[in-house]
Amino acid sequence: MAFESSCDETAVAIVEVNDNGTHIHANQIYSQFDEHVEYGGVVPEVAARAHLSYFDPLTKKALDEANMSFEDIDAFAATAGPGLLGGVMIGFMYAKSLSMAFDKPFIGTNHLEGHALTPHLTGDIEFPYLLLLVSGGHCQYIHVKDLANYETLGGTIDDAIGEAFDKVAKMLDLPYPGGPQIEKLAEKGDKFAYKFPLPLKDKGIDFSFSGLKTSVRQRILNEDLDDQKRADIAASFQETVAQIFEIKSKRAIEQTGVNTFVVAGGVAANKLLRARLEKMCEEKSITFAAPPLKLCTDNAVMIAYAAALHSRMGKFSELSMAARPRWPLEEI
Ligand code: KG4
Ligand code: ZN
Repeated sequence: MAFESSCDETAVAIVEVNDNGTHIHANQIYSQFDEHVEYGGVVPEVAARAHLSYFDPLTKKALDEANMSFEDIDAFAATAGPGLLGGVMIGFMYAKSLSMAFDKPFIGTNHLEGHALTPHLTGDIEFPYLLLLVSGGHCQYIHVKDLANYETLGGTIDDAIGEAFDKVAKMLDLPYPGGPQIEKLAEKGDKFAYKFPLPLKDKGIDFSFSGLKTSVRQRILNEDLDDQKRADIAASFQETVAQIFEIKSKRAIEQTGVNTFVVAGGVAANKLLRARLEKMCEEKSITFAAPPLKLCTDNAVMIAYAAALHSRMGKFSELSMAARPRWPLEEI
């Protein structure tokens, strides 16, 4: 049984991994949308308080969904980092308490490892693969070589891409979360109407979105905006992001020499971005995969799965383990 609380999703899952495969017995998620909407983004203290009040009811729901009681659980796991520490601590202490109360092992799991293993959990994909993780909190390439063997290859040097979508949406007076709103508005726009910069285009596989954001802001300030121009800006911004992802992903694939490319995270819901990455993989004759959205945005199934694989190797955590706001995958 695993608990996830590193950002604004409160999640509890029960997963069984044995020699016959993986079975998801329960997957409960509460997305703290109402709590943060008035702030236009996640407020860490508000998130932590909400995690605290939602874990009890969600845990009960998870046990009901699995038709189990605490006695049926073999081990308790929780995200130990990286993430917003106040929130991480809530799920982390919750799992430790249950582990102590029921005298079962505890496993502190790396949140990024959960994301990294999701394509493996959902089936067809075998190690090694290259994962592009794009959400409100993450924007990076992870070379998933094997279980507990990961290499982070570049990432954003400022905002995560989901944040950039949310901020541009805010500039266009669209509500939070802005990604889906931008995608919808862009359908009516001309994606070549505006030319925005492609930051770090010729260099490496790191991302930077602050210059792009500033450029969009300047455009908005300098224009007499009508509905068409707003749609054109949304479409041009989205097209620019697609081009950035194509350029960087090609480079990352060449650098790693992988045959499988996976995109995951909330931003992977974007149909244009998905389609462009899929086409890029087709051209390079490599396999493209995108796990179902429910499992590639923040959830506790991925935490339970990572913990289960570690436990099958006999690796558990001490109850004295400390939560880690920063925890590079290379240190697992
Ligand atoms: O993985 P996720 O659900 O949560 C966390 O980051 O914790 O990702 C949420 C992010 C938000 O920034 C949201 O605006 C973005 O994913 N997003 C999208 C789309 N759907 C969600 N961005 C672009 N296009 C979308 N269709
Ligand atoms: Zn995440």
